[in-house]
Amino acid sequence: MIKKGIILSGGMGTRMSPLTKAVNKQLLPIYDKPLIFYPLSILMLAKIKDILIIVNKGQLSQYKKIIPNGNNIGVNITYKEQSSPRGLPDAFILGQKFIGKDNVALILGDNFFYGQNLTKQLLNSVKLKKGAKIILHKVNKPELYGVAKIDKRKKVINIKEKPKKFLSDLAITGLYFFDNNVVNYAKKLKPSKRKELEIVDLINKYKKNKKLTADLIGRGGAWLDSGSIEDFYKTSSFVSAIENRQGFKIACLEEIALNNKWISKKEVKNAIQFYGNCEYSNYLKKLID
Ligand code: G1P
Repeated sequence: MIKKGIILSGGMGTRMSPLTKAVNKQLLPIYDKPLIFYPLSILMLAKIKDILIIVNKGQLSQYKKIIPNGNNIGVNITYKEQSSPRGLPDAFILGQKFIGKDNVALILGDNFFYGQNLTKQLLNSVKLKKGAKIILHKVNKPELYGVAKIDKRKKVINIKEKPKKFLSDLAITGLYFFDNNVVNYAKKLKPSKRKELEIVDLINKYKKNKKLTADLIGRGGAWLDSGSIEDFYKTSSFVSAIENRQGFKIACLEEIALNNKWISKKEVKNAIQFYGNCEYSNYLKKLID
């Protein structure tokens, strides 16, 4: 059972400058909430309560203003600063103490997931005892992502980071599940040509040991990532369309915590005070009325 999760929320967001000059990308809005709420909600839906958020050096105070601790959402939040982005596997080196002897999930701070079967799929993925699991989703432009080629039995036969030549249209999403070996594997990785530790190299270690499995998010699910300003607008419109139609919020952390029975009405009331008089608080009020 995986009970710990890491959100890698660093990065300079250079493609989104000047928006990201003063504020970290993951704190910018996707419609009515900061982007970080969405990956955090995914870990909470997976019933992960111990969460490490890795942020850029110097930006911790920004994060603490919006998520001071996990009290109102029933989770334990630990923060760790990263002095410079060294690639995704660095999360496991920085997170070694947090991970201890446990298995761990990793989600990238700019990844957005939505879909009917999602929670079921997440609860199934955290059952992982040994090996690693990646989550795949068909995309139109696979050359922008890490991709995986699978056979008829959904066995991964090849993976590659941003392949120039077509290999597969299944992108490796930024949600990964690993056993405890991940820490040692990450430490042994060598930087790639772009001078970063690569997540595909890490996944490949599991593949070589025949310990890699893959799950697919089908066409009924959505996976979006927010690397550019255009992505922010597209994801925001998606969230706005669903929320305004249904009257339910996507990634309302207190609602998920309440459904998980991690908090009571008291914490929701505290959250309302914390956020102040706003639409998000009005939604919270309706939850406890
Ligand atoms: C990273 C990973 C890539 C993965 C993607 C998902 O890419 O290197 O394998 O498919 O995240 O969001 P980046 O966004 O850092 O270019």
